[in-house]
Amino acid sequence: MIDLAVDPVLVWASGRRDDLPWRLTRDPWAVLVSELMLQQTQVSRVVPRFEQFLERFPTVAVCAAGGVGAVVEEWAGLGYNRRAVNLHRAAVQVVELHGGEFPAELDALLALPGVGPYTARAVLAFAFERDAAVVDTNVGRVLARQMGERLTASVAQSRADALVPSGRSWAWNQAMLDLGALVCTKRSPSCGACPVQASCTWFAAGSPEPDPAVGSAGVSAGQSRFEGSFRQGRARLLDVLRTGAVVSPLQFVDACGWSAREEGERDAARAAESLIADGLAARAEDGSLLLP
Ligand code: ADE
Repeated sequence: MIDLAVDPVLVWASGRRDDLPWRLTRDPWAVLVSELMLQQTQVSRVVPRFEQFLERFPTVAVCAAGGVGAVVEEWAGLGYNRRAVNLHRAAVQVVELHGGEFPAELDALLALPGVGPYTARAVLAFAFERDAAVVDTNVGRVLARQMGERLTASVAQSRADALVPSGRSWAWNQAMLDLGALVCTKRSPSCGACPVQASCTWFAAGSPEPDPAVGSAGVSAGQSRFEGSFRQGRARLLDVLRTGAVVSPLQFVDACGWSAREEGERDAARAAESLIADGLAARAEDGSLLLP
């Protein structure tokens, strides 16, 4: 079992980041949008984008009724563009299968495109205030260090589930996310400021290497280099499409920024194919590429 005390964490977090815009709402659509944006993108960068996105797509119905291309366009600069396609697909599914009302059940949420164990529980806890535990990179790190051992996804989830104080899951999960993001950081954690230092197995042992958080559930190893990568060229091509341009095959290589790249033309053609395969682009009859 894990011996982490709930109250000190709640006291520590109380009032800390209450003004984050997605913490001022219980609208499941807004919560879903925020949580998808927050996967891999910093809080400070998400705030203005979240507000702008909801101005354009205030409800799940508005999003579903628009084309996927508009969502991809609005996702510019947030990265992981497939999330935008999945968000649109999820909106369509909520409208078609659930009459535009988000389901408040784990299985139905998990069945939405792009919604995994973390995001489904985030909607349950943050929109419906149900007793569910979210385990992302930050929470996984806190739990692994508290227990002083590497945790598989299922162990981390069951430990996290056991900790949720009944009826207070909203505050508890936001607090755990903040604890992991602000105190129990990946490098140089601020153990002196930690409200649950007393129960931390790793701290008690003198924070030895290897850090149990490394390789634990929900703790990503980080992405490979973006600069010079295939992903970078593909992202550039998508950014050109986002301007509303229709790009002919002859322009693919320039749009990818690969005119000087060995095999640039072949890679650019592959980038175009992979954008289509991911639902991020469509091909016109003459072979040109455009937003779907
Ligand atoms: N990261 C993921 N979800 C978050 C949330 N609800 N608040 C702050 N940071 C987050």
